[in-house]
Amino acid sequence: MKKPILKGIIFDLDGVLVHTDEMHYQAWKQIADRIGAAFNREINNRLRGVSRMESLEIILENAKPVSDAEKLILADEKNAAYKKFLETLSEEDVDGDVRMVLRELKNRGIKLAIGSSSKNARFILEQIKLTDFFDAISDGNNIQRSKPDPEVFLKAAEFLMLEPAECAVVEDAYAGIDAAVAGGFYSVGIGDASGYDRADMKIRRIAEVLNLVNP
Ligand code: BG6
Ligand code: MG
Repeated sequence: MKKPILKGIIFDLDGVLVHTDEMHYQAWKQIADRIGAAFNREINNRLRGVSRMESLEIILENAKPVSDAEKLILADEKNAAYKKFLETLSEEDVDGDVRMVLRELKNRGIKLAIGSSSKNARFILEQIKLTDFFDAISDGNNIQRSKPDPEVFLKAAEFLMLEPAECAVVEDAYAGIDAAVAGGFYSVGIGDASGYDRADMKIRRIAEVLNLVNP
């Protein structure tokens, strides 16, 4: 897609603004080790952007079958382990450039939203003290279908009162780029997704987001 004249930018949270992706990995690893499921960082990359229950299904591809009741217990256990990691998060876990970029985008009149599959998004934003930068938060609590479905981003655009074609999505997940493309957004791949050919723009550092809008 050709770079549009942007009025809004929707940021994924985990793996884009803060490295909770490593905490997800460590928490799932504890569960996978306990149930004897083979799990590594390559499999973990497939969990980026997908919901908690869908992540569990991917992990269980390499484990003995478990009942639906047990799946709920495992998902709760993972979330408890993950939340212990989240308790340790602070402002210092946000890369230096993130605050500068968000502040600069706001100065340039761009509306900002979060588009995250996580049900912990608001808690994380509070921990890292970024909540106030955002005009809207669309997360795992207001969607039925997680990425690659575009719902979370469509909701974010709706909350901002903007059209998808007026917004860019910044994502580290292949599933997130697919969701952005499906929703008609300009897609920006960073981190794991910086090598994904479906992304309209690929960046190495968050500061490159500033190239999307005029000073
Ligand atoms: C996404 C992560 O942001 O949130 C996924 O990339 C995760 O890996 C998903 O599974 C759901 O997170 P939570 O916090 O609701 O378990
Ligand atoms: Mg992510």
